Amino acid sequence: MVLTREENDLLTRVGPGTLAGGLLRRYWHPVAAAEELTDDRPTKFVRILGEDLVLFKDRSGRVGLIADHCAHRGASLLYGRVEERGIACAYHGWLYDTEGSCLECPAEPAGSMFHLTVKHRAYPVRQFVGLYWAYLGPLPVPEIPRYDVWVREDGIRKVALYPRLDCNWLQAMENSVDPAHLQVLHQEFIGRGQKPVNTTRGYTDLVRGFEFSEAPYGIVKKRTYADGHMDQHPVIFPNILRQANATQIRVPMDDTHTNIFFVHFLPVRDRDGYDDENPEVIYVQPFKEPVAALHPFTMFNLNSVLPQDHMAWETQGPIADRTVERLATSDRGIVLFRNVLKREIVKVQQGLDPLAVVRDPDHAMIDTFLTESLQEGWYDPSGRPGGSTQRQEEPIRA
Ligand code: FES
Ligand SMILES: [Fe+2]
Repeated sequence: MVLTREENDLLTRVGPGTLAGGLLRRYWHPVAAAEELTDDRPTKFVRILGEDLVLFKDRSGRVGLIADHCAHRGASLLYGRVEERGIACAYHGWLYDTEGSCLECPAEPAGSMFHLTVKHRAYPVRQFVGLYWAYLGPLPVPEIPRYDVWVREDGIRKVALYPRLDCNWLQAMENSVDPAHLQVLHQEFIGRGQKPVNTTRGYTDLVRGFEFSEAPYGIVKKRTYADGHMDQHPVIFPNILRQANATQIRVPMDDTHTNIFFVHFLPVRDRDGYDDENPEVIYVQPFKEPVAALHPFTMFNLNSVLPQDHMAWETQGPIADRTVERLATSDRGIVLFRNVLKREIVKVQQGLDPLAVVRDPDHAMIDTFLTESLQEGWYDPSGRPGGSTQRQEEPIRA
C-alpha cells in the first residue's frame, strides 16, 4: 500500500480546510499545562493545527484562546495586557473577551459602536487533569472522554510536557501501531538484565506474534510473547497512545511540528494533599543538540526510550515520503491505521461524528486496559519521564 502524493497529503496535512485537519478538529486537545498561565505571565503562544493563537487568563480567572494577530492591524496578542474583562492589544488597546468579542477600541470617538462590528477568532478552553484543552471544531463541543488514565480516583496523575517533535504527527501515530520496533529500536532498555541474541534482531525472537483489533475508541494492538505473557497498548483515535500507565497525546502544531503531552496515572492509597486540577508537571529536556535543528544538522541522544523514538520519527523527514516506502507484513498495523483514518475522514465529510467522539457528559469511564498495564509492571512508579516503556524487574501490582 504505497501511497500517492495526494494520499500522503490527505492523511498528514492539518491546517484549516484540510481533510485530516477537519478530522482532528473534532477532538479536544491539550495546549498547555494549567500552571503555565500565572498572574505574572498570563499569556502563552499556542500553535495548533496550523493556527497561531494566544492562550490567556484574564483577571477574572477566565481562560481564552484567540487568534494571535489582533483584528485591528495585526500586532501579536501574546504581548496584550490582561484585565478583568479580557485581553487588550498592547498596540492600540483593542480589548477582547474570551469569546473573541471586541469590547472597546480606545482611540475611537466617545459613543462609537464600531467595536461591536469586530469579532475575533476564539475557541473554547477547558481545564482538565492539569492541562488546558482546546476545541477547534464545529459547535456544539463534544465531551473530553473519561478514559481510565484521566479519571480513575485510586491514584494520582502526573503530567509531562515533552520536547517539541519536529515532524508530522502521523509518524508518531504510525509508530504506535508498529509493535515490531520495540524489540529492536529499544533493545538497550527492555532486556531486564538479559542480552539480545545480536543487535540486528534485538529481542525480536521473544515475541510470538502481534495482532490488531478495533475498539470503540480506536485500535488495540496485542503482543504475545513466547513465554505466554501478553501486553496490549491501545491507540486512542486519532492521536493518543495508551501505553504503560500513561496516555501520550500528540497534538499537531502544524504539518511539520508536534507537541507531546503525557498524562501518567500512579496508583496510591493516600491522595491527601493531591489536587487533580493541578498535578505535578514535568518539563522534559530536549533530546537533541542543537535543539531546533533538523536531521542531519542535529544529533539525538539515545539514552532512553523516548529519545530513540524521536530520532526514528524525525529522521523519516518533516513529512515522511510514503510514496517510496517498502511496507512489509509487520507493517499491517500501519495499513490498518491509515484505512481507519481515511474511513473516519469520510465520516466527517458526511457530517457524522468520527470514532471516539463522545457527546454524553455522564458517560461511564472508558476502560483502556489500565488495570492490566499496571499489573504488567510496564511503568516507572516515580513517574520519571521516558521511563514508562521500561519494564520493571519485578512487576508492580496496582
Ligand atoms: S494592532 Fe491591535 S489594537 Fe491596533
Ligand atoms: Fe518506541
